[in-house]
Amino acid sequence: MRLRRLRKSPRIREIFRDTDIRNDKLVMPMFVDENISDKEEIKNMPDIYRFPLRLLVDKAKEYEDIGVKSILLFGVPKHKDAGGSAAYDSRGIVQEAIREIKKETDLAVFADLCLCEYTDHGHCGLIKGKKIDNDSTLGVYAKIAKSYADAGVDGVAPSGMMDGQVGRIRKELDGNGFEDTLILAYSAKFASVMYSPFRGAVFSTPSFGDRRTYQMNYSSTREAIREIELDIEEGADVVMVKPALFYLDIIREARNRFLLPIAAYNVSAEYAMIRSAGDRGIVNLDSVVDESMSSIFRAGADIVISYFTEYLLKRGRN
Ligand code: PBG
Ligand code: ZN
Repeated sequence: MRLRRLRKSPRIREIFRDTDIRNDKLVMPMFVDENISDKEEIKNMPDIYRFPLRLLVDKAKEYEDIGVKSILLFGVPKHKDAGGSAAYDSRGIVQEAIREIKKETDLAVFADLCLCEYTDHGHCGLIKGKKIDNDSTLGVYAKIAKSYADAGVDGVAPSGMMDGQVGRIRKELDGNGFEDTLILAYSAKFASVMYSPFRGAVFSTPSFGDRRTYQMNYSSTREAIREIELDIEEGADVVMVKPALFYLDIIREARNRFLLPIAAYNVSAEYAMIRSAGDRGIVNLDSVVDESMSSIFRAGADIVISYFTEYLLKRGRN
């Protein structure tokens, strides 16, 4: 037997590889900012921008033209307060963005559902004393979910890691006639340093403490499985592992155990580190994007949320 026969030419290798980077499985994150009138590039994330609403819609149309199928929206509001009230404002920036993009394009629109961009303290939940209070936060998440659904979102993506958030949101959606709105649950979301560029981008760094009482300890595998199991019981349509590249083992474990679609979030510092290594000529950018993205699909992700989506689609491999 000679295994090298299957590697003998580019065509043969292409035919017999068992993992593909499928363009329609890539989700592009997008940032809409209520405070700006022109696009602003995000620090340490070359080619990734915050957009004012009008330019966001133009960009979404451009994405549709190059073959993007879905986006994940994040908002930067004008107003922040302790309760994160701008997050469930029916005229809020994300709600407006959902309406406009659904009107102007055929993209599937998903929206991140959290409070950290909207609270003056930068935490993902409401504060009671010195703690992030789980149960009072759930009602606020429910209001955000309803406001996104009213605006026409295809799916909400709760990322706050409060216990019971998926169940509470499902109940709210169903109770208001939004049985068809998906929940993409950030189920196994680890307390990771890899979100740093993102927090700079949306001004959501916590003003005290950190997120380790709600986001997962990265040294735990079994707990990640419990988080996913619970979200499935509570009605998640898609479960997510985040970050992606340092957590391929968790993606694989989830793939082996569960039947529903698994999303992986290839987060901001994964983008920043890879871009920076490519831009500095340490490695070839095209190759490293290809190899890292292949590894996430090979680990078992069905869809990948990645800032490289635009890059991959423009490059055109499939
Ligand atoms: C909000 C949220 C974060 C990310 C997605 N949703 C940041 C955080 O939890 O601090 C990270 C995305 C990225 O780094 O690309 N909870
Ligand atoms: Zn948050």
